[in-house]
Amino acid sequence: MPHTLKDVLPATARMRDDGHLEVGGADVIALAEQHDTPLYVLCEETLRRQCRRYVGAFPGARIYFAAKSFTAVHTLRVAVEEGLGVDVASGGELYTALTARVPVEAIVFHGNNKSDAELAMAVESGVGRVAVDSLDELERLSEIAASAAKVQAIVLRVTPGIEAHTHEYIQTGQEDSKFGLSIESGLAIEAAKRAADLPGVDLVGIHAHIGSQIFGPEAFMKLVEVMFEFLDAVRSATGVALPELNLGGGLGIAYTKEESPADIELHARLITEAVEREASKWGIPTPRLCVEPGRSLIANAMLTLYRVGVVKEIPGIRTYVSVDGGMSDNIRPMLYGARYSALVANKCDEHPTLVVTIAGSHCESGDILVKDVAVPESIRRGDVLALLATGAYGYTMASNYNKMRRPAIVAVRDGKSRVIVRRETFEDLVRLDEPG
Ligand code: LLP
Repeated sequence: MPHTLKDVLPATARMRDDGHLEVGGADVIALAEQHDTPLYVLCEETLRRQCRRYVGAFPGARIYFAAKSFTAVHTLRVAVEEGLGVDVASGGELYTALTARVPVEAIVFHGNNKSDAELAMAVESGVGRVAVDSLDELERLSEIAASAAKVQAIVLRVTPGIEAHTHEYIQTGQEDSKFGLSIESGLAIEAAKRAADLPGVDLVGIHAHIGSQIFGPEAFMKLVEVMFEFLDAVRSATGVALPELNLGGGLGIAYTKEESPADIELHARLITEAVEREASKWGIPTPRLCVEPGRSLIANAMLTLYRVGVVKEIPGIRTYVSVDGGMSDNIRPMLYGARYSALVANKCDEHPTLVVTIAGSHCESGDILVKDVAVPESIRRGDVLALLATGAYGYTMASNYNKMRRPAIVAVRDGKSRVIVRRETFEDLVRLDEPG
């Protein structure tokens, strides 16, 4: 197993003497046999380590696990056990968090188009924060909370005019985003003033999320500056220095050996220092920092196991290795052109010298998981292919296209494995049909 995949694989990954990949003390080939494929495997230790890194790196901050990256009841519980809160972005995610018994005060509710029913659900369940995304939502939430004789703590989601692209950032017109209240156009300050006058809502802070899979600190440094300028504007307009600053998620991870993950500790130090610097520059008490990582907590903690089926060589063109899943369990390669690493998990001791294309089983030519990846020359039907770093936005974006059953998810730790999400059955596939 190449050492160069260290940052891509779960922390506990190693090669066994028989050439099998081991994760969390479990032979993944045995897992594939026991639970069938496609199979998502979660290394609980890696997830817990990543949670602890965040908690340790941001002392005193609130870390919310962005549930959209991966939403299983078991995993939300792990996040809570490690001291994290949860960021939810729909009634369904909120329901799942409540099912996982996430303490309500540790939930922040996001969304650019929350329905009245979702707002009522948030208020009734007592979520810690609603991230208000528009003036329309602010008015509706105020009415819903006031008529329930409650006061809902809110943060305003603002669009700071920063769009992050890996190592650089570009300024964009805030009008260009469906999310948040634009600072530049004055909508954000209008919402802050309005919130101060409305019953049923208590404005406690501001929030921004500038993007995902970001590596360099520049965009975040700029964000802190913009947010403090706005905190000062709010103080001038309302007389209140808001006590909470939520900077969203977005740290990048390694999907391939060419990438290095963003350094969580360095990132945290730079952000914390920038917040303190800005606070003293503006004479504002240092607000409580919140962050909402998703991908950087869960992506590398998971991988997907597939069984190799047809191996088709088109002479002079390419070799297609078809596996028993694809775009229904991982849409990211097709949707974003996302690049993944793959290895033959029962042949980690063989050199990958044959360049192939890994195809899924769906009725669609675009159903390609990885183009041009090197695998051992001996690859054949029955081998187990592991697609790495599939934890974030893989299962949560899965579908039943071609009536494929969504895979099972198994958690491994200290050599023990446990199914945390069952594989869908054929019966599940028709359970909502009402044929009459
Ligand atoms: N907070 C908010 C308000 C967000 O919208 C997101 C992600 C996060 C936190 C977590 O960001 P992360 O740390 O995971 O980068 N489906 C896409 C990613 C969409 C991200 C949406 N928002 C993908 O597969 O790459």
